Order: sequence, then C-alpha cells, then structure tokens
Amino acid sequence: MSGGKATASAPANIAFVKYWGARDPARALPLAPSISMTLERCRSRTTVEPLPARAGADEVLLRVAGGELEPAPERFAGRVRRHLDALREWAAGGGGEGAVAGPRFRVATENSFPAAAGLASSASGFAALATAVAAALGRDPLGDPARGGLDRAELSSLARRSGSGSAARSVLGGYVEWPSEAAGGGEDDPRAAALATAADWPLADVIALVEDAPKAVSSLDGHRLAPTSPHFARRLAELPRRLDEVRAAIRARDLERLGPVLEEEAVELHLIAMSSRPPVFYWRPGTLAVLEAVRALRGSGSGLAAWATMDAGANVHVICPTEQAGEIAERLARLPAVRSVIDDRAGDGPALHDEHLI
Ligand code: PMV
Repeated sequence: MSGGKATASAPANIAFVKYWGARDPARALPLAPSISMTLERCRSRTTVEPLPARAGADEVLLRVAGGELEPAPERFAGRVRRHLDALREWAAGGGGEGAVAGPRFRVATENSFPAAAGLASSASGFAALATAVAAALGRDPLGDPARGGLDRAELSSLARRSGSGSAARSVLGGYVEWPSEAAGGGEDDPRAAALATAADWPLADVIALVEDAPKAVSSLDGHRLAPTSPHFARRLAELPRRLDEVRAAIRARDLERLGPVLEEEAVELHLIAMSSRPPVFYWRPGTLAVLEAVRALRGSGSGLAAWATMDAGANVHVICPTEQAGEIAERLARLPAVRSVIDDRAGDGPALHDEHLI
C-alpha cells in the first residue's frame, strides 16, 4: 500500500454487554470485557490527507446534517488531534499514547446517521479515523496480515487510543468482544476479537429515536462516575456469568437466550448511571414508552422476537431477526414518542473507499 490521501468508513456498534466503568477512562482501559454487534448502515466516513511538512497543525472538518464541510467545533477537533498524536506515535514505533513528530493531516468526516440523533458516533468516528490514518501511512489496514496487512487486533488497539473503548470493537465485523484474551495486548493495551461474523447470525437493530439532542453527560464522564454507584461492585461480580451467557447465545444463535441478558444489561447500565454520585439520567419519557411497547410486541402472540437495549442515551435499540425488522420498525414508528426509526443490521465492519470527501 503506497499511502497518501485515504478514505475509510466504519460502522457504529450496539453493546450487548456494556463497557461502563474504566480503570483509566482517558486511555479506555476497561474494568471488564464488553460484547457488541457491529452495525452496517450507521457509519462514519473519514478522509485523511497528509499535509506538506511545513504545516503546523492538523485541520479537522466536519459535515453536519448533509451541509457543507466546515471547521469542526473545538471540543471535537481537539479529540481528533489527540487521537492523531497517538497514531503518529504508533507509526514512529512508540507506545502510541503521546504527541510526536510526524505528518499533520487534513481530516474530513461525516456520519450517515443524523448527527443530532443522540446516537453514539465516537465508535464509528474513531474506528474510521484509525483505519484511514493507517492507510494514509501506507499500512494496509484491512488487508491480509499474511501479505503485509495490519493485524485487526492491532487496528482495534489503534482505534482504542482515541479514548473510546467502543471504537476498538467497531474495526471488526459481526459479534465482537473487547478486551479479548485471544487478541493479545494484555491489560495495558486491550484489543478486540470477533466471536462470529454478521453472516453467521443475521440480526437486526431497529433503533427507535425518541430524542434528538446530544446527550448531557459524555460516556467518558460516565466511565469515571460508574464506580461511585453502590451497585457497581455487584455488577462487576455478576458480569462473568452474563458474558458467558452472551457468548453461549451467540455460539448457539439463540435470541431467546440472548434477549433477557440484553435487557438486564441495558437497565443495569442506567441503574448505575442514575445511582452514580452525582447521578446521570439519560432516559426520557419516550424511552419508557418504547420499552413497554417492545415487551408488548413480544407478548402479543404475534410471534415477534424483539428485545430492547440502550447505550448512554435515551434512544432504544431493538434487536430482532432481520426478517421481522420491517414489521417491528413499522409498529414502533407509530408510537407518538418515536420521532423516527433507523432499520440497521449486523454488518462486516470498516471499508476503504476510492472516493474522497476532500
Ligand atoms: O466508547 P465509549 O467511551 O464511548 O463508551 C461506550 C459506552 C456505551 O456505549 C454506553 C457502552 C458500550 O459498550 O458501547
């Protein structure tokens, strides 16, 4: 791979077992493993262009809601620059956690899903950035490692160095565990590995949007606060059993086995957030309306298998077989609390593109 301007896209993911609580939130060193399903349609697309040697700083452009590419707000641009520093250090052969010399970049990024939908875009955004930068530096990020391609576990480490742990999962397709012992890296460099491909188990994620404001408390602050909840220690003790249950359900493609654990996990994430000190409330009245509707769907004798989960936000992800997604999306869209519905599904992870944003 020759390097130079490169464009990558990467999908968001929905956690089945949540990453919530970190030993070191800024470095995304988690206190427990998490497992997610990589999505297909909710994606970030990012072009990176190495700048001439005299350029002093990285430039970060963002397209919001289909508008023009514009200089990104400083909070977002700062996070991108810190991630670029970590990637430059990796490229220079360092540990990847600090600023070093190396090419500066012009970065342009956009999301396929509504920016104000309150959906987490850090996973897709930083997975796309790590993939595009590796390509721009001439390291074939998605190629076969036997032919010089980057090891996918290493790419997950690069995505994690953004400070977003969920980004480490978005560089792989299908069903992904992070950290995974199988992926190596150890405690100080947790890496992700796939448990199964999207084709192995074609599940859908029907996302019911009940809120379109950005969330009030970032997940970074959520990770920091989690251990202050009196329920957190019990959660950590309970997690090995849940992780085993989810791994087994994925191996057996058994949604009836996965579903109850999904809902337990979603409620517990929010139980911990709400009982942190200070407390964090992500739910809106519409959240509860959708949760009730999902339970009613399952119990209605309709034969629908719909199970709800949530990230650190008010919107509800409904996991179901792909062949039922259309009907479930239609029924959820009829609820007054639901502003819109995104019909997504398990997908294959990041991709490189010839068409650039800049
Ligand atoms: O990757 P972060 O730091 O944005 O944290 C992700 C937090 C959750 O989305 C709530 C859970 C998860 O595992 O994705």
